[in-house]
Amino acid sequence: MSTRTAVVTGASSGIGEATARHLASQGCHVYIGARRIDRLRKLADEIGGTALELDVTSEDSVRAFTDAIPRVDVLVNNAGGAKGLAPVAEADLDDWRWMWETNVLGTLRVTKALLPKLIDSGDGLIVTITSVAAFHAYDNGSGYTSAKHAQAVLHRTLRGELLGKPVRLTEIAPGAVETEFSLVRFDGDQERADQVYAGIDPLVAQDIAEIVGFVASRPPHVNLDQIIVAPRDQAAPGRFARRG
Ligand SMILES: NC(=O)c1ccc[n+]([C@@H]2O[C@H](COP(=O)([O-])OP(=O)(O)OC[C@H]3O[C@@H](n4cnc5c(N)ncnc54)[C@H](OP(=O)(O)O)[C@@H]3O)[C@@H](O)[C@H]2O)c1
Repeated sequence: MSTRTAVVTGASSGIGEATARHLASQGCHVYIGARRIDRLRKLADEIGGTALELDVTSEDSVRAFTDAIPRVDVLVNNAGGAKGLAPVAEADLDDWRWMWETNVLGTLRVTKALLPKLIDSGDGLIVTITSVAAFHAYDNGSGYTSAKHAQAVLHRTLRGELLGKPVRLTEIAPGAVETEFSLVRFDGDQERADQVYAGIDPLVAQDIAEIVGFVASRPPHVNLDQIIVAPRDQAAPGRFARRG
Protein backbone atom coordinates (compact mmCIF):
# COMPACT_ATOMS: atom_id res chain seq x y z
CA MET A 1 0.00 0.00 0.00
CA SER A 2 1.30 3.50 -0.83
CA THR A 3 2.20 5.95 1.93
CA ARG A 4 -0.80 7.88 3.25
CA THR A 5 -0.67 11.61 2.79
CA ALA A 6 -1.81 13.94 5.57
CA VAL A 7 -2.31 17.70 5.49
CA VAL A 8 -2.13 19.70 8.71
CA THR A 9 -3.00 23.41 8.74
CA GLY A 10 -1.54 25.63 11.45
CA ALA A 11 1.41 23.30 11.96
CA SER A 12 3.95 25.94 13.01
CA SER A 13 3.00 25.63 16.68
CA GLY A 14 0.93 23.88 19.32
CA ILE A 15 -1.59 21.20 18.38
CA GLY A 16 -0.81 21.34 14.65
CA GLU A 17 2.92 20.91 15.14
CA ALA A 18 2.46 17.96 17.53
CA THR A 19 -0.11 16.40 15.19
CA ALA A 20 2.21 16.65 12.18
CA ARG A 21 4.97 14.95 14.18
CA HIS A 22 2.63 12.22 15.39
CA LEU A 23 1.13 11.44 11.98
CA ALA A 24 4.64 11.30 10.50
CA SER A 25 5.62 8.82 13.23
CA GLN A 26 2.66 6.69 12.10
CA GLY A 27 4.10 6.59 8.58
CA CYS A 28 2.23 9.42 6.84
CA HIS A 29 3.88 11.90 4.51
CA VAL A 30 2.70 15.18 6.04
CA TYR A 31 2.15 18.46 4.19
CA ILE A 32 2.34 21.23 6.76
CA GLY A 33 0.97 24.74 6.27
CA ALA A 34 1.07 28.01 8.21
CA ARG A 35 2.31 31.58 7.74
CA ARG A 36 5.61 31.16 9.66
CA ILE A 37 7.47 29.21 6.98
CA ASP A 38 10.81 29.22 8.85
CA ARG A 39 9.29 27.14 11.64
CA LEU A 40 7.63 24.83 9.12
CA ARG A 41 10.88 24.19 7.25
CA LYS A 42 12.58 23.09 10.45
CA LEU A 43 9.72 20.76 11.31
CA ALA A 44 9.53 19.35 7.76
CA ASP A 45 13.27 18.52 7.90
CA GLU A 46 12.73 16.72 11.19
CA ILE A 47 9.75 14.62 10.10
CA GLY A 48 10.53 14.18 6.40
CA GLY A 49 7.44 16.18 5.43
CA THR A 50 6.74 19.06 3.07
CA ALA A 51 6.52 22.67 4.29
CA LEU A 52 4.23 25.01 2.37
CA GLU A 53 3.38 28.59 3.22
CA LEU A 54 -0.33 29.00 3.95
CA ASP A 55 -2.57 31.85 5.03
CA VAL A 56 -6.06 30.37 5.37
CA THR A 57 -7.60 33.86 5.16
CA SER A 58 -6.33 34.32 1.60
CA GLU A 59 -7.99 32.68 -1.43
CA ASP A 60 -4.75 32.86 -3.44
CA SER A 61 -2.66 31.35 -0.67
CA VAL A 62 -5.11 28.47 -0.13
CA ARG A 63 -5.20 27.81 -3.88
CA ALA A 64 -1.40 27.69 -4.15
CA PHE A 65 -1.23 25.44 -1.07
CA THR A 66 -3.89 22.97 -2.16
CA ASP A 67 -2.69 22.88 -5.80
CA ALA A 68 0.77 21.82 -4.57
CA ILE A 69 -0.61 18.71 -2.84
CA PRO A 70 -1.18 15.83 -5.26
CA ARG A 71 -3.04 13.41 -2.98
CA VAL A 72 -4.82 13.68 0.38
CA ASP A 73 -5.89 10.87 2.69
CA VAL A 74 -6.13 12.86 5.93
CA LEU A 75 -6.91 16.56 6.36
CA VAL A 76 -6.53 18.13 9.79
CA ASN A 77 -8.25 21.52 9.93
CA ASN A 78 -6.35 22.98 12.84
CA ALA A 79 -5.37 26.56 11.93
CA GLY A 80 -7.31 28.91 14.14
CA GLY A 81 -7.41 30.71 17.41
CA ALA A 82 -8.89 33.53 19.45
CA LYS A 83 -8.32 37.28 19.65
CA GLY A 84 -9.27 39.15 22.80
CA LEU A 85 -11.91 38.71 25.48
CA ALA A 86 -14.61 41.37 25.43
CA PRO A 87 -18.30 41.72 26.19
CA VAL A 88 -20.59 42.05 23.17
CA ALA A 89 -21.17 45.69 24.09
CA GLU A 90 -17.48 46.36 23.52
CA ALA A 91 -16.84 43.89 20.70
CA ASP A 92 -13.85 44.68 18.51
CA LEU A 93 -14.95 44.15 14.91
CA ASP A 94 -11.40 43.51 13.72
CA ASP A 95 -10.94 40.75 16.32
CA TRP A 96 -14.24 39.18 15.22
CA ARG A 97 -13.17 39.38 11.57
CA TRP A 98 -9.83 37.67 12.40
CA MET A 99 -11.60 34.85 14.28
CA TRP A 100 -14.28 34.27 11.65
CA GLU A 101 -11.83 34.51 8.74
CA THR A 102 -9.34 32.12 10.34
CA ASN A 103 -11.53 29.52 12.06
CA VAL A 104 -14.63 29.49 9.87
CA LEU A 105 -13.79 30.68 6.36
CA GLY A 106 -10.27 29.25 6.62
CA THR A 107 -11.69 25.79 7.34
CA LEU A 108 -14.22 26.24 4.53
CA ARG A 109 -11.59 27.32 1.96
CA VAL A 110 -9.16 24.49 2.69
CA THR A 111 -11.82 21.77 3.03
CA LYS A 112 -13.65 22.81 -0.15
CA ALA A 113 -10.42 22.82 -2.17
CA LEU A 114 -9.24 19.41 -0.92
CA LEU A 115 -12.59 17.54 -0.98
CA PRO A 116 -12.14 16.08 -4.50
CA LYS A 117 -8.72 14.69 -3.51
CA LEU A 118 -10.07 13.28 -0.24
CA ILE A 119 -12.84 11.49 -2.15
CA ASP A 120 -10.38 10.25 -4.80
CA SER A 121 -8.20 8.70 -2.07
CA GLY A 122 -10.92 6.07 -1.54
CA ASP A 123 -10.73 6.47 2.26
CA GLY A 124 -10.49 10.16 3.16
CA LEU A 125 -10.60 11.55 6.69
CA ILE A 126 -11.32 15.13 7.75
CA VAL A 127 -10.47 16.00 11.34
CA THR A 128 -11.50 19.47 12.47
CA ILE A 129 -10.17 20.91 15.71
CA THR A 130 -13.09 22.91 17.10
CA SER A 131 -13.28 23.54 20.86
CA VAL A 132 -15.47 23.24 23.94
CA ALA A 133 -16.28 26.79 22.79
CA ALA A 134 -18.24 25.09 19.96
CA PHE A 135 -20.60 23.64 22.62
CA HIS A 136 -20.88 26.49 25.14
CA ALA A 137 -21.27 30.26 25.21
CA TYR A 138 -19.29 32.15 27.84
CA ASP A 139 -19.18 35.77 28.96
CA ASN A 140 -16.70 37.94 27.02
CA GLY A 141 -16.01 35.11 24.58
CA SER A 142 -18.71 35.58 21.93
CA GLY A 143 -16.31 36.31 19.06
CA TYR A 144 -14.54 33.00 19.60
CA THR A 145 -17.52 30.90 20.72
CA SER A 146 -19.59 32.04 17.74
CA ALA A 147 -16.73 31.33 15.32
CA LYS A 148 -16.12 27.87 16.82
CA HIS A 149 -19.87 27.08 16.73
CA ALA A 150 -19.93 28.10 13.05
CA GLN A 151 -16.79 26.09 12.22
CA ALA A 152 -18.31 23.06 13.97
CA VAL A 153 -21.63 23.37 12.13
CA LEU A 154 -19.79 23.56 8.80
CA HIS A 155 -17.93 20.36 9.72
CA ARG A 156 -21.04 18.55 11.06
CA THR A 157 -23.02 19.48 7.93
CA LEU A 158 -20.43 17.76 5.75
CA ARG A 159 -20.97 14.51 7.65
CA GLY A 160 -24.45 14.31 6.13
CA GLU A 161 -23.59 15.81 2.76
CA LEU A 162 -20.80 13.29 2.21
CA LEU A 163 -22.82 10.21 3.21
CA GLY A 164 -22.18 7.53 0.60
CA LYS A 165 -18.77 9.00 -0.27
CA PRO A 166 -15.56 7.44 1.10
CA VAL A 167 -14.79 10.26 3.54
CA ARG A 168 -14.96 10.13 7.33
CA LEU A 169 -15.37 13.21 9.52
CA THR A 170 -14.22 13.65 13.10
CA GLU A 171 -14.63 16.74 15.24
CA ILE A 172 -12.21 17.06 18.14
CA ALA A 173 -13.27 19.65 20.73
CA PRO A 174 -10.57 20.36 23.31
CA GLY A 175 -10.77 22.31 26.53
CA ALA A 176 -7.66 24.11 27.79
CA VAL A 177 -4.48 23.05 25.99
CA GLU A 178 -1.26 24.88 26.86
CA THR A 179 0.07 26.16 23.51
CA GLU A 180 0.60 29.64 22.04
CA PHE A 181 -3.21 29.99 21.94
CA SER A 182 -3.50 32.37 24.92
CA LEU A 183 -0.40 34.32 23.90
CA VAL A 184 -2.09 35.02 20.56
CA ARG A 185 -5.43 35.76 22.25
CA PHE A 186 -3.80 38.34 24.53
CA ASP A 187 -1.56 39.88 21.86
CA GLY A 188 1.75 38.58 23.20
CA ASP A 189 1.04 39.31 26.91
CA GLN A 190 2.86 36.29 28.40
CA GLU A 191 1.84 37.02 32.00
CA ARG A 192 -1.85 37.13 31.12
CA ALA A 193 -1.49 34.00 29.00
CA ASP A 194 0.19 32.12 31.86
CA GLN A 195 -2.74 32.93 34.17
CA VAL A 196 -5.05 30.83 32.00
CA TYR A 197 -3.11 27.68 32.96
CA ALA A 198 -2.13 28.69 36.52
CA GLY A 199 -2.96 26.13 39.22
CA ILE A 200 -4.32 23.50 36.81
CA ASP A 201 -2.82 20.65 34.84
CA PRO A 202 -3.84 21.65 31.31
CA LEU A 203 -3.81 19.36 28.33
CA VAL A 204 -0.68 19.54 26.17
CA ALA A 205 -0.54 19.51 22.37
CA GLN A 206 0.68 15.90 22.34
CA ASP A 207 -2.57 14.78 24.05
CA ILE A 208 -4.58 16.03 21.08
CA ALA A 209 -2.03 14.74 18.54
CA GLU A 210 -2.38 11.23 19.94
CA ILE A 211 -6.17 11.44 19.64
CA VAL A 212 -5.83 12.48 15.97
CA GLY A 213 -3.45 9.54 15.51
CA PHE A 214 -6.00 7.17 17.08
CA VAL A 215 -8.78 8.49 14.84
CA ALA A 216 -6.57 8.20 11.74
CA SER A 217 -5.66 4.60 12.52
CA ARG A 218 -9.25 3.23 12.78
CA PRO A 219 -10.42 0.98 9.94
CA PRO A 220 -12.38 2.62 7.09
CA HIS A 221 -15.86 1.64 8.37
CA VAL A 222 -15.36 3.36 11.76
CA ASN A 223 -16.33 7.05 11.98
CA LEU A 224 -15.64 8.75 15.31
CA ASP A 225 -18.05 11.67 15.03
CA GLN A 226 -17.17 13.89 17.99
CA ILE A 227 -14.55 13.77 20.71
CA ILE A 228 -14.74 16.27 23.56
CA VAL A 229 -11.59 16.27 25.67
CA ALA A 230 -10.69 18.49 28.62
CA PRO A 231 -8.21 18.49 31.49
CA ARG A 232 -9.51 16.73 34.61
CA ASP A 233 -9.36 20.19 36.24
CA GLN A 234 -11.86 21.71 33.77
CA ALA A 235 -15.61 20.99 33.74
CA ALA A 236 -16.60 23.67 31.19
CA PRO A 237 -15.07 26.81 29.66
CA GLY A 238 -14.20 29.09 32.57
CA ARG A 239 -14.99 26.41 35.18
CA PHE A 240 -11.71 25.21 36.64
CA ALA A 241 -10.49 23.62 39.87
CA ARG A 242 -7.42 25.76 40.55
CA ARG A 243 -4.87 25.01 43.24
CA GLY A 244 -3.44 27.83 45.33
N1 LIG B 1 -5.13 25.79 23.07
C1 LIG B 1 -6.37 25.60 23.43
O1 LIG B 1 -6.73 25.71 24.61
C2 LIG B 1 -7.40 25.20 22.41
C3 LIG B 1 -8.61 24.67 22.87
C4 LIG B 1 -9.58 24.30 21.95
C5 LIG B 1 -9.36 24.46 20.59
N2 LIG B 1 -8.17 24.99 20.17
C6 LIG B 1 -8.00 25.14 18.72
O2 LIG B 1 -6.86 24.40 18.33
C7 LIG B 1 -6.32 24.95 17.13
C8 LIG B 1 -4.82 25.08 17.28
O3 LIG B 1 -4.54 26.02 18.30
P1 LIG B 1 -3.29 25.89 19.29
O4 LIG B 1 -3.84 25.79 20.65
O5 LIG B 1 -2.34 24.90 18.82
O6 LIG B 1 -2.70 27.41 19.16
P2 LIG B 1 -1.33 27.98 18.55
O7 LIG B 1 -0.17 27.36 19.25
O8 LIG B 1 -1.50 29.47 18.61
O9 LIG B 1 -1.36 27.48 17.03
C9 LIG B 1 -2.21 28.06 16.08
C10 LIG B 1 -1.73 27.68 14.69
O10 LIG B 1 -2.64 28.25 13.73
C11 LIG B 1 -1.88 28.89 12.73
N3 LIG B 1 -2.60 29.99 12.10
C12 LIG B 1 -3.16 31.09 12.67
N4 LIG B 1 -3.66 31.89 11.74
C13 LIG B 1 -3.41 31.30 10.53
C14 LIG B 1 -3.65 31.66 9.20
N5 LIG B 1 -4.27 32.81 8.87
N6 LIG B 1 -3.26 30.83 8.21
C15 LIG B 1 -2.62 29.67 8.51
N7 LIG B 1 -2.35 29.27 9.76
C16 LIG B 1 -2.74 30.09 10.76
C17 LIG B 1 -0.62 29.38 13.44
O11 LIG B 1 0.45 29.52 12.50
P3 LIG B 1 1.04 30.90 11.90
O12 LIG B 1 0.83 31.95 12.94
O13 LIG B 1 2.49 30.56 11.65
O14 LIG B 1 0.26 31.12 10.65
C18 LIG B 1 -0.34 28.22 14.38
O15 LIG B 1 0.41 27.22 13.72
C19 LIG B 1 -7.07 26.25 16.89
O16 LIG B 1 -8.10 26.02 15.93
C20 LIG B 1 -7.69 26.55 18.24
O17 LIG B 1 -8.87 27.34 18.13
C21 LIG B 1 -7.19 25.36 21.04
